Amino acid sequence: MEKSSKGLIEYEKLLEAFAITKKYLKQQIDLGFDQIYLSKKSELENNFSDLVEQKLKKLYQRIKNCNKCSLHKTRTNFVFGQGSGKSKVLFVGEAPGREEDLRGEPFVGHAGKLLDKILKAIDFKREEVYIANVLKCRPPGNRDPQPVEIKECEPHLLQQIEILKPKIICALGRIAAQALLKTKAPLNQLRGKFHDYHGIKLIVTYHPAALLRYPQYKKGCWEDMKMLKREHDEIIQ
Ligand code: URA
Repeated sequence: MEKSSKGLIEYEKLLEAFAITKKYLKQQIDLGFDQIYLSKKSELENNFSDLVEQKLKKLYQRIKNCNKCSLHKTRTNFVFGQGSGKSKVLFVGEAPGREEDLRGEPFVGHAGKLLDKILKAIDFKREEVYIANVLKCRPPGNRDPQPVEIKECEPHLLQQIEILKPKIICALGRIAAQALLKTKAPLNQLRGKFHDYHGIKLIVTYHPAALLRYPQYKKGCWEDMKMLKREHDEIIQ
C-alpha cells in the first residue's frame, strides 16, 4: 500500500484493499485452504489490476458514444486507449490519426510503429504500459485539436488517470504536454525535467510523428526516455 508524502494512507484505498483481500481469502477458504502462501508478486497485485481493468471497461462503456464535440460526426471509431491496468506509466498522445480512427486503437500507424520501437529501447512492451490520447476522436485531416475539443474531451482522460493511478505520465508532443500542464510554453522548455502533475511525475518528449519528420530530435527523445526509465525502475524497486 502506497503512502503519501506525509506517510498517510487514504481510507478509500485501504477499504478497497481490504475488500479485495477479503474476497481472495474467502475464495481460498472455500477451496479448503487454511494457510496462505504469498509469492513476491502476489495474487493481490493481480486482483488490483483486474479491478483497474474492470473500471476502465466500465468507463469505456459510459463514454464510447460521446457526442460532446463535433468530432463524433466524422469519427469511425472512438479511440479510448489501450494497455495494462498494472502499468505504472501512461503515455499520452495528441489524437487518433487515420489508422487509429479506422482500428479504434491508439498509435497503430507509422507514428505508433516508432513508439513501439522507443518502448522496446527502454525495455517496455507495448502491452505492459498504457497508451491514450488527449482527444478520443480523430480531427478531420489530422488537423490540430481545437481548444474546445480538448476542453470537452479532457474529463475522459482525467477519469482514465484517476483509475490507472500511474506513477509516471509521458506527454508525447506539444499538444499533449500543453493540454496536461495547462501551459502555452514551447516543447523545448517543457522537456528535460519531471513536472508535478497533481502528485504524478510527468515528463514531456517529442511526438513520434515529429521524430519521423525530424530525425535529428531522436537523440533528445532518447535522453527523455532514459530519464523516464530510471525513474520507473526506482519506483518499482
Ligand atoms: N498520433 C497521436 O497523437 N495519437 C495516436 O493515437 C496516433 C497518432
